[in-house]
Amino acid sequence: MQSLLNKKIVLGISGGIAAYKTPELARLLMQEGASVQVVMTEAAQQFVTPVTMQALTGNPVFTSQWDSSVANNMAHIELSRSADAIFIAPTSADLMAKLSLGLADDLLSTLCLARGCSLLLAPAMNKQMWEHAATQRSVERLEKDGIALLGPASGFQACGEVGMGRMLEPAEIAEQVVAFFQKKTLRGKKVMITAGPTFETIDPVRGITNHSSGKMGFAIAKAALEAGADVHLIAGPCNLPTPLETTGKIIRTNVVSAKEMHAAALSAADCDVFLAVAAVADWGIAKPSKNKIKRQGNTAPNIEFIANPDILLGVAKTVKAKAGKPYPYCVGFAAESTDLEKHADEKRKRKGVPMIVGNIGPDTFGSDLNQLLVIDDRGSKKLAKAEKLHLARQLIQLIAKNI
Ligand code: CTP
Repeated sequence: MQSLLNKKIVLGISGGIAAYKTPELARLLMQEGASVQVVMTEAAQQFVTPVTMQALTGNPVFTSQWDSSVANNMAHIELSRSADAIFIAPTSADLMAKLSLGLADDLLSTLCLARGCSLLLAPAMNKQMWEHAATQRSVERLEKDGIALLGPASGFQACGEVGMGRMLEPAEIAEQVVAFFQKKTLRGKKVMITAGPTFETIDPVRGITNHSSGKMGFAIAKAALEAGADVHLIAGPCNLPTPLETTGKIIRTNVVSAKEMHAAALSAADCDVFLAVAAVADWGIAKPSKNKIKRQGNTAPNIEFIANPDILLGVAKTVKAKAGKPYPYCVGFAAESTDLEKHADEKRKRKGVPMIVGNIGPDTFGSDLNQLLVIDDRGSKKLAKAEKLHLARQLIQLIAKNI
């Protein structure tokens, strides 16, 4: 699935050492299906060559506003007319100051002033330059003008210092550019998601868990962020990176047992949408042993189970009346081995939630593909086999419509 198919991006490069990351970024944007037209300032060419960018993108690189090969010699108008977005990485402190004042003294800055599309900037500079009052004034002005800033991040800098001002990594930037183009149907909404398995401790070295990989829940968290929501992701033990972490719009709480997941979910239940995607253990261990249980010949130990609280049910009970509608909008998941639609709909009614999503498969745990059956009080809708992120985006759009 290519998320930037048919998108035309003007990729601007200004003068900064972080420009060494831009060729990789161009490749990632193209892998997502975007066509990339590079425009470089004079200073940028000190760090990366136009030939490199031309070879990678397959398009001639524009470096000057005085280009007689462009019809009517209006490169800035031609380029900004056809682009879906202009994205500049790295954006130097100097260029940020220029753009915030509407200055246009070279091709890239002129292109930005003449644009009819969105402008995104990935700032990169030394920490003193970033913290300088003049740069912070630029940030304020640019944000007021509706220009999106991706980053910067904090970390090691080329000058040897550690601090704020480092450009985000190409993969983080590419994810944020993809997110930028998704429909903002959940803007201003708070979404809570449980994901992954739980682990019920028997003793310090043993426990009971299940095969859930967490991939579906994490894909849904990403899709909700892309749709503009603030996300609280409550994750059982799974080794997955936090989606779109650098946007600052996601809180992740790691838990181990169902009891911990229950407590975390109840304390974050003041949200607009709750998706219970986690495969929660139905039973916990009544008295986990403090020490490792030693083998007693061939006698198996007696392990006593206790029922775990139902998290979905618990959150659904916190439903409050908000403009006559249930709040939060709760979505359950169902993995059934037989009669999926019948059992899932029974589960929806039993748990008192407006929507339940049946997992059709594939049966291999940890797969990147899935197939879903979405059931609400208007009936059921099958979402055909696709990558989990693709399904997650469709599911988020259905939920956004219902709320
Ligand atoms: N769920 C939950 N807390 C639990 C058990 C389940 O929040 N203790 C949620 C799951 O995250 C899922 C939904 O409830 O969204 C259905 O889970 P499932 O285990 O299939 O349902 P059960 O109620 O346990 O029914 P059964 O195992 O009998 O099918």
